[in-house]
Amino acid sequence: MSQKALLLTAKQGEWALGTRAIPKPGPGRILIKIEAASLNPIDWKVKAYGMLIEDYPAVLGYGLAGTVAELGKGVTNFAIGDRVATSGIVGNSEYCSFQQYALGDARFTAKLPSNISFDEASSLGVSLDTPALGLFGPLNAKLTSPIDKPGAYKGQTMVILGGSATIAQFAIQLCRLAGYTNIITTASPAHDALLKSLGATHVIDRRLPTTEIIASIRSIEKGDIKVLYDAICDESTQAVGWGILAPGGHVAVSNYNIKNPGGETDTRTVECSYGSPHIPPHHEFGEKLWGAVHDWLANGTIVVRVDVVPGGLDGIVAGLDRLKAGKASGIKLVVRPQDTA
Ligand SMILES: NC(=O)c1ccc[n+]([C@@H]2O[C@H](COP(=O)([O-])OP(=O)(O)OC[C@H]3O[C@@H](n4cnc5c(N)ncnc54)[C@H](OP(=O)(O)O)[C@@H]3O)[C@@H](O)[C@H]2O)c1
Repeated sequence: MSQKALLLTAKQGEWALGTRAIPKPGPGRILIKIEAASLNPIDWKVKAYGMLIEDYPAVLGYGLAGTVAELGKGVTNFAIGDRVATSGIVGNSEYCSFQQYALGDARFTAKLPSNISFDEASSLGVSLDTPALGLFGPLNAKLTSPIDKPGAYKGQTMVILGGSATIAQFAIQLCRLAGYTNIITTASPAHDALLKSLGATHVIDRRLPTTEIIASIRSIEKGDIKVLYDAICDESTQAVGWGILAPGGHVAVSNYNIKNPGGETDTRTVECSYGSPHIPPHHEFGEKLWGAVHDWLANGTIVVRVDVVPGGLDGIVAGLDRLKAGKASGIKLVVRPQDTA
C-alpha cells in the first residue's frame, strides 16, 4: 500500500510530491492516518542549511494528529480509531508528518479529548516538547516539572523572551502550571491579550530599546533572575537575556551555538535542548509529558491557535515560505495531508 508524501529530494534540494510505502508498526509503535500536520521553522531550516538529515529523499514534519490505523505488538493503551497526536523523529521519514500515514511511538503519543481538533493537536509535537524539555527536562534548566509538582514556583518570576512564538506560548502555559507568580514575556503588543490569556502576567513590547525592556523587567522583578527562557535567540532577545540574568544564572535557549558573551570567567550558563522525546535521555520525561497531554487539553490547561493552509501536502511549501518570511505571527500553520489532490 502506498501513500502521498512531500519529499525533500536531496540535501538543500527541491520539494516534490511523491509516493512512499505505508510503514508497518513494529513493537510498541502505532500506525497513524494523519489528518493534520504542523509546519515548524526546522522544516525550512533543514532545506535551507542542509542540517540534521543525511538520508534523502526525506520526509519532514514534526507535529501530527490523526487516527490510529494499526497497532504494533505489545501496544495496549491505544485502539484502532483512537484520535491521537505525537511528534516526529528528525532523520526518520517513517515517523514524520508531511505524508498521509506515519508511525508513532506509543510512549510519546497522546489520546485526544473531544474538545480538541486534529488541526489544533498537530501543533503540539516539537513545539510542546522543546520548551517542556528546555525548562523541565533532565538536560537543561532542570526545573521541577509541573507534572510532578504543579505550583512549585509560587512567589517566583520567570522571563520568557519571544512570547508569541509557538514554543513560547507552550512555555508560558507550562510556567503557569508550575505556579510562577510573575511570567514576564516580550512580544508585539498585538499579542498582549492572547499571551495574558495563556498565563503571562506582563507583556513588554519586543521592539522597545533593549535598555527599556531590561528596565521594565527590573521594575517587576527586583531580585536576582536565575533562570530564563529565550524562544527566539536573535540579537535583540540575547541582549535582553544576558542583560538581566544574574551571576550563576542559566538561560535555556531554543537554538544551538548560543554563547555567553561574558566569556570563560562569566559564571552564567546557556543550553539548547534538542526538542524531542525520542533520544534516550529524554525518554522518561517524554513519556510523562505525553502522558499528561490528554488531561491538559481536556481541562483547558493548554490551548493552541492554528491557521489551516489549504491544498493538503501541496500547501506545505507556501506555508514554509510564509514561516521563513516571518509572516506567521502568533499562530501555528497546519496542513491536512488527506486533502492532497
Ligand atoms: N531546539 C529545538 O529542538 C527547537 C524546536 C522547535 C523550535 N526551535 C526554534 O525555536 C524558534 C521558535 O520556534 P517556533 O516554532 O515557536 O517559531 P514561530 O512560532 O514560527 O515564531 C514566530 C513568532 O516569533 C516572534 N518573534 C520573532 N522575533 C522575535 C523577537 N525578536 N522578539 C520576540 N518575538 C519574536 C514573532 O512575533 P511577531 O508576531 O512580533 O512577529 C512570531 O509570532 C525557532 O528558531 C525554531 O527553529 C528549536
